[in-house]
Amino acid sequence: MWTGSISNESAPIGVFDSGYGGLTILKSIRAQLPDYDYLYLGDNARAPYGTRSFDVIYRFTLDGVRELFARGCRLVILACNTASAKALRTIQQRDLAGLDPSRRVLGVIRPTVEALSQSRTGNVGVLGTPGTIASRSYEMEIEKLHPGFKTTTVACPLWVPLVENNETTGDGAKFFVDKYIGRLFEAAPDVDTIVLGCTHYPLLLPLIEEAVGGRARILTQGEIVARSLADYLSRHPEIDSRCSRGGSATYLTTENPEKFVGLARIFLDEDVTVNHIDIN
Ligand code: DGL
Repeated sequence: MWTGSISNESAPIGVFDSGYGGLTILKSIRAQLPDYDYLYLGDNARAPYGTRSFDVIYRFTLDGVRELFARGCRLVILACNTASAKALRTIQQRDLAGLDPSRRVLGVIRPTVEALSQSRTGNVGVLGTPGTIASRSYEMEIEKLHPGFKTTTVACPLWVPLVENNETTGDGAKFFVDKYIGRLFEAAPDVDTIVLGCTHYPLLLPLIEEAVGGRARILTQGEIVARSLADYLSRHPEIDSRCSRGGSATYLTTENPEKFVGLARIFLDEDVTVNHIDIN
């Protein structure tokens, strides 16, 4: 059981991701909720999570949540589909009671699936990492919230490495974007809404839009998650009142800080100050 200190002070909202992808979520959250403080933790040393097994992703994610709790966060957003798919439910149902039942951990899948009510035909596509797709979390959540919807999923294992190597334009990226979008439309030609179910994928949006060619609407998660967080905070004053306001964002990484700053620039369009920590 976690034995870190429990503080009654208000603290930043914790944002956890395997690495950089969660920065796309943080960017949208900060645009919508600029007054709060945020503490971002990227487990870059152990990323990517998307190709790892269930148990490993769960363990790594729990390490991240513990760390953010130990730093005072009352609310942690898992800004990573893979972590949300493979760890969120167990952390909420099993671990939270032992860690601190008054704190909260939220993910990105539920708000995204709620936003699928925009689909006219109920024929939707979900693109994600192999871990997210293998978990079937999107299918299960869609079945719960939109019974009768037809969901087609495609794992896109090469998209995260493309983004992390800043290969988001050019022929190589185009080849692999066309390949997975082609696979989706082959399996489901009538799909009318496509979920980018990985926080890295918005960086490939121009190529994805080109490949989709107007055949379907594309849902990115940043604004959806930000809206859902704003709604959550308005409904939970007991959590909201413990989230500090100062408009700051603090960044932590388990990898080399210089490397983080370089890649964070691609995701945020700004330079950030980041500190290294070990969490395992
Ligand atoms: N950010 C993760 C997600 O949204 C993908 C990156 C990884 O595989 O670690 O699924």
